Amino acid sequence: MRLENPRDLFVYNLSSIYTGEKKIVEMLDEVSGKVNDSTLSQMLRHHREETQQQIQNLDQCFQAIGESPQQVPCPVVDAIHQEFRQFADMNPSPQVLTMFALAGADKTEHFEIAAYRGLVNKAMLMGETTCIQLLETNLLQEEETAGKLERFANELGRKALAAT
Ligand SMILES: [Fe+2]
Repeated sequence: MRLENPRDLFVYNLSSIYTGEKKIVEMLDEVSGKVNDSTLSQMLRHHREETQQQIQNLDQCFQAIGESPQQVPCPVVDAIHQEFRQFADMNPSPQVLTMFALAGADKTEHFEIAAYRGLVNKAMLMGETTCIQLLETNLLQEEETAGKLERFANELGRKALAAT
């Protein structure tokens, strides 16, 4: 792909988060099946639905600028996935695995928040109003999800410490 101007960079970054979101759908399936905490499983399944909507929003964003998603990797999401798998293979207790999964989900959200903030800013600079709206929708969902995950992690951490 051509990488010569800020618009090319926008398409590159948009393609990378598109790859990442698709991978996140798979990860949410895998992780929600591996944790034995029903609240977290439910949270992850809910965010899976949102993620599918986010992919559609990205599709609309590509359409709005007359582009299509390019084959661009999203190595940060791959690394978080690999980290979870390696940890799960170390035979942690169900409670510890749940806490690790929560932290991993929160890391993913913060990566996405940074990625979407960058994309929203670039869309603003380019005056791409349709993209601004669509990307802000995704950004808001990631911020809300991060908040929910962090509140739940605190609650769980307090309970776990009180029980020791
Ligand atoms: Fe997302």
